[in-house]
Amino acid sequence: MTYERENIANMHGYIPGEQPDSPDIIKLNTNENPYSAPDPVIETLRHITGEMLRKYPPPTANDFRQVAAQTHEVASDNIIPTNAGDELLRLAITTFVEPGATIAVAEPSYSLYPVLAAAHGAGVLEIQRNDDWSLPRNLAQQISDGGAQLTLIVNPNAPTGTLTSVADLKELAEAIPGVLLIDEAYVDFVDPDQGYDAIQLIGDHPNVLILRTLSKGYSLAGLRFGYGIGHADLISPMLTKTRDSYNTDLVSQKIATAALTHRPFAQKTWEAVRQERDRMVRELHAFGILTTDSHANFVLATIPGDFAGGAANLYQTLKQRGIFVRYFDLDRLGDKLRITIGTPDQNTALLNALKELAT
Ligand SMILES: Cc1ncc(COP(=O)(O)O)c(C=O)c1O
Repeated sequence: MTYERENIANMHGYIPGEQPDSPDIIKLNTNENPYSAPDPVIETLRHITGEMLRKYPPPTANDFRQVAAQTHEVASDNIIPTNAGDELLRLAITTFVEPGATIAVAEPSYSLYPVLAAAHGAGVLEIQRNDDWSLPRNLAQQISDGGAQLTLIVNPNAPTGTLTSVADLKELAEAIPGVLLIDEAYVDFVDPDQGYDAIQLIGDHPNVLILRTLSKGYSLAGLRFGYGIGHADLISPMLTKTRDSYNTDLVSQKIATAALTHRPFAQKTWEAVRQERDRMVRELHAFGILTTDSHANFVLATIPGDFAGGAANLYQTLKQRGIFVRYFDLDRLGDKLRITIGTPDQNTALLNALKELAT
């Protein structure tokens, strides 16, 4: 006897990356920022009083909305704060997809999408990226033919790290019938020299919704805070109807507001990660391990079959040595490892282990 709805009984849940507790583990498996949030952000916690927690928090986190609006040079009406990026994804599906309808996903991508779709009773149109992980030319046609009401594109993509241009996203937004959610969980690690800025699309494209999170760029994965950026007409139904009554708590609102206010601290970590990313790519290539052209805080590395027994074995061997990376036993990814960029010391430890295993 089960009380679950049929689609819930039939679905599988999301499987998160391993979260080992030991401080000795070199954790390069879940794309956290390797540097802690700065003191002025953590200091915020000290100013939280019992009296502040006695009351409900500001329902729509308006202080945060204002700081985010200033940061991105948009209006507060263009921002919806959420319980991290994952809540925005759920809200987008709840708000823009009829149960029984379809979402479109460019694969490989974030494995939570099909889980959220299944819980909602929506189907998933999986469209494979090209061999170089770029978006297929006929993507918009496939989405239109499949009648998808919401299309999810991770940019830079996970787990490949590759970046789609704003021009291509604009073309896609104009060609598809439904909402285009650009999941920018990793966008902070894109080199500013790329000139990438998809937020400029929201003014003229009322179907573009951008996901941002403080989990990666701002070193606050434990906090659970993110936000959506979009046309006010797109944000409004989520803000006024489908969101939980107090979807972000007071403590996270305060810390998140401080994090954006002190953005230059985070920006320094983004640059440090980019430098280490370049080094890792160079050093991995020297082992014959090729990587994608990553614009995120991880690289997707193809492990030759004769290197330490290939990707799956190397993942296990590294784990036994206390170095966690991510292995996906999936189509197109079975010979690859996703390696989060860590501190210089952590990265060197991984490279030293590879050196030993290579000989
Ligand atoms: C592509 C992508 N989108 C969104 C998220 C959501 O992150 P969070 O819920 O921590 O904001 C993640 C987390 O790993 C991710 O990889």
